[in-house]
Amino acid sequence: MASNHLTGVGSESKQLATWYFTVAATLLGAQLLFGLVAAIQYVMPGFLFEILDFSVARMLHINALVVWMVFAMFGAVYWLLPDETGIETVGIKIGKLLFFVFTAAIVVVVLVYLFIQVGPASEMSIWFIHEGREYIEAPRWADIGITVVALGFVFNLFATGMKGKQTGIVTVLMADMLAFAGLYLTGMFFTDNISVDQFWWWWVIHLWVEATWEVYVGALAAYGLITMIGAHRKTVEMWLWIEVAMLFGSGILGMGHHYFWIGTPEYWWEIGALFSALEPLPLVAMFIHVLYDWGKTQGEQDAQGQEMSVIRNKPAFTWFVLNAFGNFLGAGIWGFFHTLPQVNLYTHGTQFTSAHGHLAFFGAYATILIGMMYLAIQGTNGIKIMKNTRASIWGTSMIVGGVVGMTVSLTIAGYVQVLISRAQMGATWAGYFDGQSGMWFSQAMDWRLIMGVVTFLGFLFLIKDFLTTGKNPVHER
Ligand code: HEM
Ligand code: HEM
Ligand SMILES: [Fe+2]
Repeated sequence: MASNHLTGVGSESKQLATWYFTVAATLLGAQLLFGLVAAIQYVMPGFLFEILDFSVARMLHINALVVWMVFAMFGAVYWLLPDETGIETVGIKIGKLLFFVFTAAIVVVVLVYLFIQVGPASEMSIWFIHEGREYIEAPRWADIGITVVALGFVFNLFATGMKGKQTGIVTVLMADMLAFAGLYLTGMFFTDNISVDQFWWWWVIHLWVEATWEVYVGALAAYGLITMIGAHRKTVEMWLWIEVAMLFGSGILGMGHHYFWIGTPEYWWEIGALFSALEPLPLVAMFIHVLYDWGKTQGEQDAQGQEMSVIRNKPAFTWFVLNAFGNFLGAGIWGFFHTLPQVNLYTHGTQFTSAHGHLAFFGAYATILIGMMYLAIQGTNGIKIMKNTRASIWGTSMIVGGVVGMTVSLTIAGYVQVLISRAQMGATWAGYFDGQSGMWFSQAMDWRLIMGVVTFLGFLFLIKDFLTTGKNPVHER
């Protein structure tokens, strides 16, 4: 059913995908709004004091980030599964039911974070309010719910993958999503030793974004290239397997770069330095993969005298190409900057980390997931060739410009902190404050806010495009 890529009509799996994408896009909006609140608080510390404190806004910002991405990742799998396997997703009714469980749980969790989270922590608060583990703060009842939902999702994927056609993409996804779901468990149990707690917490955070999610993105990129420009499956799947091997190789022990400061044994310095420094290599490979495959397909079409550039979905393709660049820059380059212990000694705990965090999450994941949303819009509206619209161009440019602008501002702020708080003042208490009270730092925070507003305006264009482009007559049907 390879020819069925572009029509989402009639597949329940694809319908479920669009539900997941809708919630994901909504949560992305919430993420950006809470980010704006936190950014305003950097500039005006009294803003919403004791109404929506920085701690709460920041927590909602980064938890919403993780949750919308997980929603979009599930959605993307439900979207591509019928195309890849040639059959309807097995047990799709369970998948649909669990979608509602997941969404309802998230809404409750967010309301609790917003309205009743401030106060002393106890055994009770771990179960019902939050666990206090950055990025994955969901309380334990929700953790258990999420685990059940994830198991249902993995079941859908495995049952369909085993019954239908087994492409390389589906095989990689099956292994990868099992690891992805399994790792979540390592962030769930309680220990009163903060080093032990942090040790396992990184198994979720690092092994998600630098191993399982990266492999996932490789699979999506492969699917996208086949769907949008008719790349040869053999070529893209070969690259995919190479990347899987490389990413798991460097990504797993690369985790050592989080074990410099938390009380883990010192041999992690060397392990972390070596393996995490190798991590950019698979990202370079991925980058070359996307551009090389594209060039190759175009060259072949040219040689056969066909018209080049039959990109079947321009906005999605734009986001996929942005992903290749963004992943390489945000994760590869900005990650490499601070990954050696000699450098991390100065950069740890500065805005530099935040610069990397923003560009990496955006470049490696937000981009390709937005691209998948465009593929779904194309499919559900039965569009043959989807073009850019004014709103998609404004949306893309402002979001990318805004995030790059924020990254530059944060990098400058981090540099000031490294110079003043660390190099000059030797990481003292006074140095901490001096680093943040200078003009360069505070102007960088102003610019981060301005660029955050640009990002948010771009998001509004994106949503306008999502809601209207399906019916826009510019596309070829
Ligand atoms: C898409 C992949 C990646 C994402 C989404 C990502 C995201 C992040 C985030 C959010 C943090 C801050 C964590 C915290 O709150 O403490 C972080 C820390 C870090 N990342 Fe990445 N990262 C990625 C890939 C990489 C790569 C490939 C490298 C190395 C080459 C790297 C090196 C580091 C280091 C060294 C830290 C610790 C900084 C510190 O605590 O001083 N990251 N990353
Ligand atoms: C409207 C745009 C945005 C604004 C104003 C904003 C603002 C902020 C602020 C103020 C923080 C807290 C930083 C701190 O603790 O010092 C933060 C953290 C973070 N944001 Fe954003 N953000 C925005 C968009 C995004 C996007 C698009 C992403 C990724 C896709 C993202 C990912 C993150 C991450 C990973 C962190 C934690 C970083 C760390 O602790 O190292 N943000 N953001
Ligand atoms: Fe890491």
